[in-house]
Amino acid sequence: MKVTTIGTGYVGLVTGACLAEMGNHVVCLDVNAEKIRILNEGGIPIHEPGLDAVVKRNVEAGRLQFTTDVDAAVNHGTILFIAVGTPPGEDGSADLQYVLAAARSIGQRMTDYKVVVDKSTVPVGTADKVRAAIAEELARRDAKVGFAVVSNPEFLKEGAAIEDFMKPDRIVVGSDDEQATLMMRALYAPFTRSHDRLFVMDVRSAEFTKYAANAMLATRISFMNELALLAEKVGADIELVRRGIGSDPRIGYQFLYAGAGYGGSCFPKDVKALVRTGREHDQELKVLNAVEEANDRQKLVLVDKIVARFGEDLAGKRFALWGLAFKPNTDDMREAPSLVIIEELVKRGAAIAAYDPVAMSEASKMLAQVQGVSFCERAEHALADSDALVIVTEWKEFRTPDFDRIKSELKQPVVFDGRNLYEPALMSTLGIEHHAIGRGTRKSD
Ligand code: NAD
Ligand code: UDX
Repeated sequence: MKVTTIGTGYVGLVTGACLAEMGNHVVCLDVNAEKIRILNEGGIPIHEPGLDAVVKRNVEAGRLQFTTDVDAAVNHGTILFIAVGTPPGEDGSADLQYVLAAARSIGQRMTDYKVVVDKSTVPVGTADKVRAAIAEELARRDAKVGFAVVSNPEFLKEGAAIEDFMKPDRIVVGSDDEQATLMMRALYAPFTRSHDRLFVMDVRSAEFTKYAANAMLATRISFMNELALLAEKVGADIELVRRGIGSDPRIGYQFLYAGAGYGGSCFPKDVKALVRTGREHDQELKVLNAVEEANDRQKLVLVDKIVARFGEDLAGKRFALWGLAFKPNTDDMREAPSLVIIEELVKRGAAIAAYDPVAMSEASKMLAQVQGVSFCERAEHALADSDALVIVTEWKEFRTPDFDRIKSELKQPVVFDGRNLYEPALMSTLGIEHHAIGRGTRKSD
């Protein structure tokens, strides 16, 4: 099939590359000429494991192209995915300006039947707006061309995007157009070979499903983070509690990790947008309000622990900080807890020696205005002369570090473990003062 993605960010690029992998001919369009230049020169603008190989293979096979040429891109695909950003507006609602601009650019150019797919995460009712925008543009140039608008939200996780797209738990298609449904089924058939995982539903339910999924996952995390705070007070270990409850199949093990708060380009904005949708319909989503509030507080938990240990005035103190990205295996810094933690520590006079395997270039841009932050080439380099080690992101290379080196290079062996990487008992044996999340604090003997 001929497919176009409008927007070549995380979602558009992964969607385009994975669809090309199944034999489709895909054109990825973006307004960002720099991104397209990098891709056309064989580079990948984001860090996403496995993506470079899929892109390279399909470019070489002539099935995947990148362009800024809107005419060519719109005319190429019969199926056009809109995969542009939907950032939060000032009131928290999803800003649809990019989605609607993409819709208009389709309406201004299409000359034959198109299935327009909303891949971006968009509030209920957006498909109607996309349909109206396209129809308006067609009417403006008196063009009589058929089209359908379907919703096909994306559930991939960054850092595991290729795996998630190639082996999806489910594919949700919201469609009230028979021909479009058939085409979507055909497009996704190679991804659902072992058993049918494609759910066709009405457009509004599909749009809603995406927000419901992210809100549910964010709720689990905030709930566990709250329990972790209480576990510290009552002398329980949240890691043992996690295993104890996760073994119940009604609960399950995933997304129950307490930590330094959730970040990323989806949970924070999607929770806000759903709260906003509720308000537009005179319904206060009380649970979700609390989820957001708990997460804002959780991003400060490591700072609270550091202040409790070293005092409010951190002038003259230096902290080694491992992990900047909002999660491992990505260079994405959007809404990363590390940004809040660094800002709060620096505000109190501390200096930060930061390290991240891939996100330092992105982080240095976002922290350009913040004084007192230096970036280290290797994790160990951050330790020397630091008062403590603060771990914010659970990259694999932090899981079994050289604890002797940590002990000898830090001014005193203090570790703030924001992702519960280390066993408190082991830290105690090693003589490292270990401050974890929801696991109590073991002082070295
Ligand atoms: P992104 O910011 O990485 O990419 C969006 C791209 O769209 C940018 O490169 C931008 O230049 C381009 N763009 C904007 N307007 C355009 C236009 N008119 N024509 C062509 N290109 C245009 O965003 P993303 O992370 O890929 O997210 C896209 C959507 O998918 C959002 O709605 C997001 O909520 C949703 N989503 C994201 C993820 C994720 O993990 N990142 C997962 C599921 C869903
Ligand atoms: C999320 C959804 O998982 C995905 O389905 C959707 O398509 C996009 O949003 P993503 O933001 O890429 O994906 O990463 P995810 O793995 O969900 O992590 C989000 C945040 O939650 C990270 O900051 C992570 O550290 C945090 N998290 C996750 C926890 O704090 N505890 C957990 O148990 C899981």
